[in-house]
Amino acid sequence: SELPTSTTGGLNGRRALVTGGASGIGFACAQALAQASAKVAIADLNEEAAQEAASKIGGTAWAVDLSDTAALEQLSIDTDILINNAGIQKVAAIHEFEPEAWRLIHRLMLEAPFLLIRAALPGMRERGFGRIINISSIHGLRASAFKSAYVSAKHGLEGLSKVTALEGAEHGITSNCINPGYVRTALVEKQIADQAKLHQIPESEVVQKIMLTESAIKRLVEPDEVASLAAWLSSDMAGMVTGASYTMDGGWSA
Ligand code: NAI
Repeated sequence: SELPTSTTGGLNGRRALVTGGASGIGFACAQALAQASAKVAIADLNEEAAQEAASKIGGTAWAVDLSDTAALEQLSIDTDILINNAGIQKVAAIHEFEPEAWRLIHRLMLEAPFLLIRAALPGMRERGFGRIINISSIHGLRASAFKSAYVSAKHGLEGLSKVTALEGAEHGITSNCINPGYVRTALVEKQIADQAKLHQIPESEVVQKIMLTESAIKRLVEPDEVASLAAWLSSDMAGMVTGASYTMDGGWSA
């Protein structure tokens, strides 16, 4: 078969669903895909923010609690591109971790991606095209103390992504992870503020002396930088890229 002619990754009206697309990395992805002329649906817990975000990019909004996984079992989703992005963080030692808080993170960040992939696959297989992009983390590949739920859910997402890649291969469906270091979003702004309070140091010191100690490039990742990779992975040009995990961490894991 012929190679696609576009090297810019135009998405030519393909449908995309971005979870947690109302803010942060998800919104940046939704925006980048819309700019590449995809039809974007934003799924988010925050209904008002989802609607506002959707109207900014000319997309649609789906207000949904993705941690309510029982409700996702009967779904069928017609989409060409699925970006599993919605996520939360909780920091606590294992011996003090509330089991229900742990399960919530696993439902939202591992079980929901499984159920959404499951719901999207039949249509993708029928059309012989699919792009699944899982927003994992550097914590999908390595650990940090006090983040047992997040680290284990993201490690699980890495495995799910690879199995999806194997099963999708003969149907034109790719599945990949993006593994950012700290990205400048609400989730991280909150962590910075919490750490500053805890250690009684200025927020700039938290970023430089706690968060970025292992990063070669001493700044946070911008959401748009993650989004540009997601847009490329969504494109026809990335058809041979599957089962991969792309770190974007300023050299943290080098
Ligand atoms: P964010 O907090 O800015 O955005 C997360 C979005 O998910 C919000 O719009 C929120 O309403 C939505 N959401 C939360 N719970 C939900 C639920 N139950 N159902 C539906 N939507 C829900 O977070 P950010 O930073 O943009 O993170 C997005 C993803 O990127 C997460 O999976 C996170 O683990 C990952 N990530 C973030 C990094 C960072 O430094 N910010 C680094 C590496 C990965």
